[in-house]
Amino acid sequence: MSLLIKGGLVVDPSTHLEDPLDLLVEKGKIAALEPPGSIPEEGRRVIAATGLVVTPGLIDMHVHLREPGEEYKETICTGTRAAVRGGFTAVACMPNTKPVNDTAAVTRLILDQARAAGSARVYPVGAVSMGSKGETLSEYGDLKAAGVVALSDNGRPVSNSMLMRRALEYAKTFDLPIISHCEDLQLSADGVMHEGQVSLKLGLKGVPGAAEEVMVYRDLTLAALTGARLHIAHVSTAGSVAIIRLAKAMGMAVTAETAPHYFSLTDAAVLGYNTHAKVNPPLRTEMDVRSIKEALRDGTLDAVACDHAPHSSLEKELEFNAAAFGLIGLETSLGLTLKLVHDGTLNLIQAIERLSTGPARVLGVAGGALGVGSPADITLIDLNREWTVDVGTFASKSRNCPFDGWTLKGKAVMTIVGGKVVWEEESRG
Ligand code: DOR
Repeated sequence: MSLLIKGGLVVDPSTHLEDPLDLLVEKGKIAALEPPGSIPEEGRRVIAATGLVVTPGLIDMHVHLREPGEEYKETICTGTRAAVRGGFTAVACMPNTKPVNDTAAVTRLILDQARAAGSARVYPVGAVSMGSKGETLSEYGDLKAAGVVALSDNGRPVSNSMLMRRALEYAKTFDLPIISHCEDLQLSADGVMHEGQVSLKLGLKGVPGAAEEVMVYRDLTLAALTGARLHIAHVSTAGSVAIIRLAKAMGMAVTAETAPHYFSLTDAAVLGYNTHAKVNPPLRTEMDVRSIKEALRDGTLDAVACDHAPHSSLEKELEFNAAAFGLIGLETSLGLTLKLVHDGTLNLIQAIERLSTGPARVLGVAGGALGVGSPADITLIDLNREWTVDVGTFASKSRNCPFDGWTLKGKAVMTIVGGKVVWEEESRG
């Protein structure tokens, strides 16, 4: 059935559009965008969008879906349901599953499960090295043919600089970006949080910002050497921002993302030994937060990606040193990013750009735009809706969220993938 989305404010960062328009969806595609009231209603499902913002479907380019292998934490079905509830029409899933996504067979399994789940689109990310062990490169041609959109050993760095050089060269021949988890393992050692005043107070071993920054710098120099596409994952420090900003000013083809927790929390969230605030890279300082917000504003950071990392209570209800790194974010990412709109850091176009158009561009996938003829991946957002985060209501299987109980302003109320309404708030009937 065709859908007529009526009376909303249509925001499309790809064309700098921010106008009240009616939007017609037919046969899974955007069929028309016209002035309010000019598209006939007959024979169509009319979706009243007055007071809502209509945006290209949000895309999270960095999530962990845990399938295959750790389905007790998340499955492709529950993870994509969490995605659409959070307003995301597509996610890119990292390869640190069990087994690692280093072969076409695993990639195909992920895509089959995503098809069966039938909610958000899933773009698999293949491993840079076999088993993400940092020893032998995986077969990028096979992985690309099976459907991966990027390569990463996320969860751990590619420590060997020669292997990283070869990976960049090899990935370039297939026009695949490498998503780099920047961490010098000798510097991060057995650190469990940011190295600073708070780690000192808590008596916990710290990870200095330099553990990330030296690898950002290394990877930028290797990207310059090879001319390959490099994307820096989960940027957490002011120093990384400064290096990436300089590389971009020099014209390098580098892109980068941050996660909402790096602009919403500081290392103070760890006080009380809160394992939900244990994440890698760690939460940093006020100064880093300020710098990350500025980098989202000026475009040094291309994407907000939540690094949704589900873990069960078995891995989190432990002594801080023993707990797993990671927190879930798909159902809070939009609300936390919209805080930056409400506090004047970003305008609405910039926020939607970082949540949709930017990641589509980085990954080279469809979406991120509302042009006539493009796939009808659309998110309807109520910018002014105040709501309280309640992990008990999450579609995700896991509960490791440090934002439980927070009041956020702004929420997705309907998510449409390929012209099909895959999630809508109950109150919309
Ligand atoms: O905190 C994290 N958790 N950081 C990562 O890089 C990996 C992730 C996970 O897979 O749990």
